[in-house]
Amino acid sequence: MSMTGTGLAQESGTIKLPPPETEGGMPLMQALKARHSVRELDSKLLPPQVLSNLLWAASGVNRPASGQRTAPSAHDWREIDVVVTIAEGAYRYDPPTHTLIRVAAGDIRPLTGVQDFVAAAPVNLVYVADLERMNEASADDKAFYSATDAGFIAQNVYLYCAAAGLAAVVRGLVDRDALGTALGLGRHRRIILAQSVGYPAGRAR
Ligand SMILES: Cc1cc2nc3c(=O)[nH]c(=O)nc-3n(C[C@H](O)[C@H](O)[C@H](O)COP(=O)(O)O)c2cc1C
Repeated sequence: MSMTGTGLAQESGTIKLPPPETEGGMPLMQALKARHSVRELDSKLLPPQVLSNLLWAASGVNRPASGQRTAPSAHDWREIDVVVTIAEGAYRYDPPTHTLIRVAAGDIRPLTGVQDFVAAAPVNLVYVADLERMNEASADDKAFYSATDAGFIAQNVYLYCAAAGLAAVVRGLVDRDALGTALGLGRHRRIILAQSVGYPAGRAR
């Protein structure tokens, strides 16, 4: 067992997140009023509980009996993996176990975008579609549905961030070849979008 710099306990490359807080929070209509993109992010780390809540909001299991998620997916394919890049490495969020499973060592946050603020954001999420989970769909349908499904997750993240006082911006500007190589993605895994999350810059700590 080792502790990461984010205060997350890691064992054999797996981080067990605290259970998400799924009660209370800002009323939905207020969160919708507050949602907006923010590109000025503080480098301050997200506490483990906040990271847990964020990932559950993004694509966590909200119906344990079926394993279905907070975000819808076409045909219930659940083809979008949320890859969490933090200073310690890149981790795939596993919704059924609410754990992070390391997929790459080292800090690859700078590779998740081309804009200056990206490298300093404490968390950059990367939405990766596993096209093999989309069965016999045509190439066009795979592209279309993986894009829509990633969009739902990104909006869940935006709304959680609005409710929790966090800053976020979804990003299509990504060097997909460089990031795909760093993440060791094979041909059937495609990077759809990235999203930076952190505290808004300029707030008193
Ligand atoms: C699919 C998509 C891709 C985007 N890509 C980027 C991006 O690469 N970089 C960026 O700074 N903002 C990006 N944005 C954020 C938009 O610029 C932003 O949502 C838009 O300006 C509206 O602002 P708002 O989100 O505050 O309403 C993207 C938004 C979407 C929906």
